[in-house]
Amino acid sequence: MSTVLVTGGAGFIGSHTCVELLASGHVVVVVDNLVNSSARAIAAVEAVSGRGVTFVHGDVADRSTLDGLFARHGFGAVIHFAALKAIGESVAEPLRYYGNNLGSVVTLLEAMQDAGCRNLVFSSSATVYGNPTNAPIDETVRLEAVNPYGRTKLMGEEIMRDLCAADQRWKIVLLRYFNPVGAHPSGELGEDPRGIPNNLMPYLMQVAVGRREKLPVFGGDYPTRDGTAIRDYIHVVDLAQGHVAALGVLDELASGCHAFNLGTGTGSTVLELVRAAEEVIGRPVPFEIVERRAGDAVAVWADPTRANTALRWRATRDLRDMCRDHWAWQSTHPYGFGDAPEGS
Ligand code: NAD
Ligand code: WQD
Repeated sequence: MSTVLVTGGAGFIGSHTCVELLASGHVVVVVDNLVNSSARAIAAVEAVSGRGVTFVHGDVADRSTLDGLFARHGFGAVIHFAALKAIGESVAEPLRYYGNNLGSVVTLLEAMQDAGCRNLVFSSSATVYGNPTNAPIDETVRLEAVNPYGRTKLMGEEIMRDLCAADQRWKIVLLRYFNPVGAHPSGELGEDPRGIPNNLMPYLMQVAVGRREKLPVFGGDYPTRDGTAIRDYIHVVDLAQGHVAALGVLDELASGCHAFNLGTGTGSTVLELVRAAEEVIGRPVPFEIVERRAGDAVAVWADPTRANTALRWRATRDLRDMCRDHWAWQSTHPYGFGDAPEGS
């Protein structure tokens, strides 16, 4: 139990992690510039937790903001979620992605070093495996990135590996998430993408709630059991608990960088996810099989053995739980934390 600085704590995964941190007795301080989130997420974290969070509206790439935080609080560890994450946008605006995602990594590490806090949990991603061909994927698979967003995650990891090699006092846990979906079971907290969703589950749920006409299923001719691509969907609450588990074992870990896959170890096709969603929603979700999406891998799922063992953590929620909880959120908050547009 310690005071934890959570960067990007108003976002999808960060907000759910705040709930789990509070439930396990940690004191939580969030810094977020709200570039892709709403302060209402922080209010929802407090409401479902029945505990308070210190929220600072600020940029992690701004050194003075961080110095102010480190001067006021004695952080036991930092969890660094803050980043931009849209792949297409990263191709169109690479400098914004490198500036934001890597600027915040370097600034945060410098501020931590100067404050003498050297315990960090970093949001990495299965994107650091590029487009792997042999699932399940364990942490020894060769690292490569295939777009600017992915490179910011891989370079972020590399910066941290270099830092750990230079200074043995650092302990850094790199958590490589597979496909986070779902929402808090209360229905009060969930993913709230801006604009057209890039990811499958939020798109599907916006169709189900009537905001979009039908789900495009990208590719029906993959060499899989039903022709659609396979991913390892993981409930965001399981993922959030993985962060609490990582903090819990920090003391036991040797110094240096440690990478862990956070996934369920089970792959599901796009159509299996659609069917699971239809079951909990109670009616069909319109979809249409269209062209494959450029750059998509056929089948990706995690080997989470290392996390299961070293973090004493495992994902327990299945596809039905993910769909049920996501629907509880989307159906009661069709426009997320925002207000419905006029005339809708
Ligand atoms: P999100 O966009 O919901 O949350 C990120 C948060 O960081 C947002 O609240 C945003 O406002 C904030 N932020 C961004 N840049 C900032 C900055 N410079 N200073 C302060 N705040 C800033 O995204 P998420 O899905 O919750 O992802 C959290 C982390 O997990 C990210 O690092 C992302 O790359 C990583 N990740 C996400 C997924 C996924 O599919 N959601 C998968 C793998 C890894
Ligand atoms: C899942 C499956 C699509 C949308 C991405 C990033 C990865 C990580 C998680 C951050 C694929 C199909 C999707 C749609 C569809 N993010 N799909 N219709 O691409 O596995 O992973 O998010 O680190 O780095 O690459 O997730 O949700 O976009 O797609 O058929 O409208 O759903 O083709 O097979 P992806 P996704």
